[in-house]
Amino acid sequence: MKYDFDQIIDRNNTNALKRDGWREYIFHAGPDKKFAFADDEFIHMWVADMEFRCADEIIDAIHKRVDHGIFGYTTVYNDDYPNAFAAWCKRRYDWEFNKEDLCYSPGIIPALYELVGDICENDDDKVLFQTPSYGFFKHASTYNGKEMVFNKMKWNDGLWEMDFDDLAEKAADPKVKVLVFCNPQNPTGRVWTEEELKKVAEIVEKNDLYIISDEIHCDMRRSGVGHIPMGKIMKDYPKLVTSMSASKCFNMAGLQLSNIIIRDPKLRQKFIDGDKLVGFLNPISITAMQAAYEHGEDWLNQMNDYVEENFKYIKKFFDEKLPEVKFEIPDSTYLAWVNFGKVLPEGTDVNDFFANKAGVLIEGDDALFVDNAKGFVRLNLAMPKSQIEIAMDRMYDAIEAAGGRK
Ligand SMILES: Cc1ncc(COP(=O)(O)O)c(C=O)c1O
Repeated sequence: MKYDFDQIIDRNNTNALKRDGWREYIFHAGPDKKFAFADDEFIHMWVADMEFRCADEIIDAIHKRVDHGIFGYTTVYNDDYPNAFAAWCKRRYDWEFNKEDLCYSPGIIPALYELVGDICENDDDKVLFQTPSYGFFKHASTYNGKEMVFNKMKWNDGLWEMDFDDLAEKAADPKVKVLVFCNPQNPTGRVWTEEELKKVAEIVEKNDLYIISDEIHCDMRRSGVGHIPMGKIMKDYPKLVTSMSASKCFNMAGLQLSNIIIRDPKLRQKFIDGDKLVGFLNPISITAMQAAYEHGEDWLNQMNDYVEENFKYIKKFFDEKLPEVKFEIPDSTYLAWVNFGKVLPEGTDVNDFFANKAGVLIEGDDALFVDNAKGFVRLNLAMPKSQIEIAMDRMYDAIEAAGGRK
């Protein structure tokens, strides 16, 4: 089967965060805030969900479950779902986990909120993570009243690298209890090499830290790139938590089901006890995620190929028209992390600028990526190429009109 990723799908009136929630999420504003573009003129390159229709195999499985007609209290009782997920991990990453360690959550973020609180028991315990960072690593720390410690990554003309000396120093702070690790990394799209993962593991183990490895983006990869779960590097380390889900890479974030693999039995019990949904899950979500793992690979491969072409398109665009941004295609995610700092007047609020001058909704800067993100913008490329072409032209025109960096 050949899937159509060029199709433009109208998401109006579906209560989609991407369509209806952007004023509040990006600008902390209500309907009164005026923009230079009408709502239906914007191109949405912000939040990380796709404009692509879900795989037919998943939609068919959902239909079948709906036709059953009963949607009573549900969780995972039999082995069908865990077996499907385990087979996926074995086939795609050559990795096996302990089935008793597998817990569930409606999302990796709700799980993170819970885990940070469970691990950081003392008021002055601290949470360590790399910046620029996915915003919810900060929000989970703030929610739990914990101080954050940033390990700033370094930007070497297009390639982001970890600062291991700084990481080792920060990890040695006795108040730091957990490293929240993103593998692959959002927003930079870095896929950490085995050597880099080993260095992180060594630092974590030396300081006896917990590590929460958020691997939600791991199935979104450029051709030839593999995924190494942290669980494969830290084979027996008891303080490792691995978070994965089919939600992100199969475009089902709204279905809300994720896999949280917690090795430490005490932490696992605490996590289970802290679940305010007392273990229940959405029956449709279990069906959908299982169908993704069992029948979704073909769609996933084609979607990855399509997005790779989108990346090539913007790379060519930047190289030819705005070489100063020094854009390099990342190994993972469908997110382009672009340095507009050198082509916009100093101090430009990039979120406001691209919304008002180009009619393109993006996320950028420290405001949305915590720290170490000045001048950078994240562009979501999981959309029909025709939309990306319009957005790129509009952004380019806006940059030209702003006169560049003085
Ligand atoms: C690194 C990372 N973790 C977690 C999430 C969201 O997880 P969930 O929807 O399962 O709560 C995202 C969404 O963009 C993400 O980028």
